[in-house]
Amino acid sequence: MESNLEHHGAHHGSVSHEPSAGADEAHRQAYAAAQPDPGRRVIPVELEARAIDWEFVPGTKTRAWGYNGQIPGPTLEGHVGDVLEIRFTNRLPQPTNIHWHGLRVPAAMDGTEMVQRSVAPNESFLYRFRLPDAGTFWYHPHANETVQLEMGLYGPLIVRGADEPQLDAERVLVLDDVRLDNTGQIARFGGIVEHHDGREGDTRLVNGKAEPVLKVAAGQVERWRVINSSSARYIRLSVGGKPFRLLGTDGGLLEAPVTLNDVLLATADRVDIAVGPFAEGEALSLDALQYLRTTIRKRKDERFATLRVGPPRPSAARIPERLRSIPPLAPANAAPNRTVKLGVKFSLRRMVDFVINRERHHHDKPVKAGELQVWDVINTTLMDHPFHLHGFFFQVLSVNGEPPPWRSWEDVVNVPPRATVRIAWLPDDRPGSWMYHCHILEHHASGMMGHFEVVS
Ligand code: C2O
Ligand code: CU
Ligand code: CU
Repeated sequence: MESNLEHHGAHHGSVSHEPSAGADEAHRQAYAAAQPDPGRRVIPVELEARAIDWEFVPGTKTRAWGYNGQIPGPTLEGHVGDVLEIRFTNRLPQPTNIHWHGLRVPAAMDGTEMVQRSVAPNESFLYRFRLPDAGTFWYHPHANETVQLEMGLYGPLIVRGADEPQLDAERVLVLDDVRLDNTGQIARFGGIVEHHDGREGDTRLVNGKAEPVLKVAAGQVERWRVINSSSARYIRLSVGGKPFRLLGTDGGLLEAPVTLNDVLLATADRVDIAVGPFAEGEALSLDALQYLRTTIRKRKDERFATLRVGPPRPSAARIPERLRSIPPLAPANAAPNRTVKLGVKFSLRRMVDFVINRERHHHDKPVKAGELQVWDVINTTLMDHPFHLHGFFFQVLSVNGEPPPWRSWEDVVNVPPRATVRIAWLPDDRPGSWMYHCHILEHHASGMMGHFEVVS
């Protein structure tokens, strides 16, 4: 099998300018079209997926998989208008690929098995795309996800915009959990509970480490970019029970900050929050408060990290009243033009399969670029499902007929049991194959996904 980019394999370390003749036409076109805005730049990145020994728990080496030898993978960072050029090499014993979760890239760069051949072991693939929006995003494989993400393959991707609130410090917190067996290794996959609930582990991780201690300076206000990269866990995030300000969600800043005591991150969700100021000597627990999503195994309040407040430092943080404006795409009562039903179907083998419109891996109707989409996402089941749309942001118009508390751009929305979430989105002209799915990885694998074409 020739590599998609054999050119790269052949000339190690050299900077290439285009994919080889072996690459597929859509990929080659998208590659060539990705140019930085005037004054912006191309950011070259090398990513390699490989097996590593990682200490999730200090003192215990766990065989895991990581990008560039670390969990999470390196934080990729750029500015709106920059181009990321990622040369990815697969050193895993199985095929993989990389999906750029939340980024509005051309279909050919979406990194799914719909749009590219998976990257075989010891092969490389070149992703290249412009960063169109500021926000907190992440990257992860889109092949054998239930295993590959749990093993540690995921990383943050931060895009900065022109008008960001100026806080005293910023940190990226990737929250995950991992299920370790009694020898400290990642537990075997499978089983009915895991198929139903999705895989949850009892080792809760912040940036790849179990329940770390985080240090902050008294008097300061920090911007935290929080990513829920876990397979199935919902995280109702609390910062020691103290109020914080929500600044942004999946698709960047809100219109105005919202003060909250906790915020729910379904799987794959992101929030940007402003935390602090705290007083010297305080110790706060960064917790996931109990959230019952009708699983077989129930969870309580659980700690992700401890926050210790050190000596004070001066603060120059300034959070404007107004962050940006988000024009509404459609009125709350806009008539839906599509229904997406999240359901379960009896299965002899597995008890249930998770489906869309009664079908595993639903093949949905095409969508025309420029035509406003108003979709009713209806959960016919008794458990929550985080609905994720690839490549496009949507606005939530209503949940069971009620408008949401704020307007935002999202690529994941939780659909509670028996609920209808009405979303609106506008397909811009990025033709090709796209998909939506439940981001509980086991449900996605079971078939709770749909794919469709965007046509020009
Ligand atoms: Cu996080 Cu199909 O995506
Ligand atoms: Cu995605
Ligand atoms: Cu689901």
